[in-house]
Amino acid sequence: MNIVYLNGQFIPEEEAKISVFDRGFLFGDSVYEVIPYYRGVGFRLEEHIERLGHSLRAVRIKNECNWHAIMDQLVEQNGGGNLSVYLQVTRGSAGKRSHAYDNSLEPTVFACCSPIKDIWQAGADEITPLRAIVTEDLRWHRCDIKSTCLLPNILVLQQAKDEGVEEALFSRDDKLTEGSACNLFLVKRGVLFTPKRSSEILGGITRELILELADEHAIQYQEIDIDYERMLAADEVWVSSSTRGIIPVVEVDGHPIGDGNKGPVWQKMFELFTEFQRKLMTGQ
Ligand code: PDD
Repeated sequence: MNIVYLNGQFIPEEEAKISVFDRGFLFGDSVYEVIPYYRGVGFRLEEHIERLGHSLRAVRIKNECNWHAIMDQLVEQNGGGNLSVYLQVTRGSAGKRSHAYDNSLEPTVFACCSPIKDIWQAGADEITPLRAIVTEDLRWHRCDIKSTCLLPNILVLQQAKDEGVEEALFSRDDKLTEGSACNLFLVKRGVLFTPKRSSEILGGITRELILELADEHAIQYQEIDIDYERMLAADEVWVSSSTRGIIPVVEVDGHPIGDGNKGPVWQKMFELFTEFQRKLMTGQ
């Protein structure tokens, strides 16, 4: 039986109920986080909590919970191990539908978890590369807020699926921003490129770690604007996220990237990333 957290209680998922007037349900008036736990330990937990704080501040929802304790306890109650925690905070319910809200509303806090693979146990051979399409970025200009208003993300991913590929990349004014639920990287002549952090993309926790590892291991990188032509001419394209790690993209809009295979810089970064996770999680 899965245990979820709802407003101060750890309960079986069947018993978790929220009001139909909850603003998260009615308006998407809510923010969220997705945090991987490996062997019962949160990976980059403080960074996720900090980003949650940023999202809550930006949309002016109260930030009064002990997130660390809630997530640790939830994972423990679900047997520990490798789990991804989904944490959502809505502005709450006023018992009616009204666009305007009262500052005294009590947020609704919900968290649940689901099993994930411990990426560091997988070899690079086990990672299946992706094919992607490029679609227009129809999202608002505050993509730095991890809001649950994900309709554009959902629709482009479905479009990708309908076209027989696995991922959709957003482009705004001929600048690639990110993927449907992941950040974007490319490699040209051994140098790593990624769109700079701005309100047009989510400041990915995995993205940040990749740049840290690049710094430590003398892999040159630049945060720059990436247009369509530059991406198609890249030697490698990758996407990154907390739940999927770093995945190579070997085809975009039917064009092969580089030689159409996983590239050597990806391979190197994958090894650095999984080694970093392994050390942190096993203490060796
Ligand atoms: N999404 N960009 C977008 C739009 C995302 O939704 C995500 C993650 C990322 C990567 O961020 P991070 O490395 O911190 O996971 C980038 C999560 C996994 C989700 O929506 O399920």
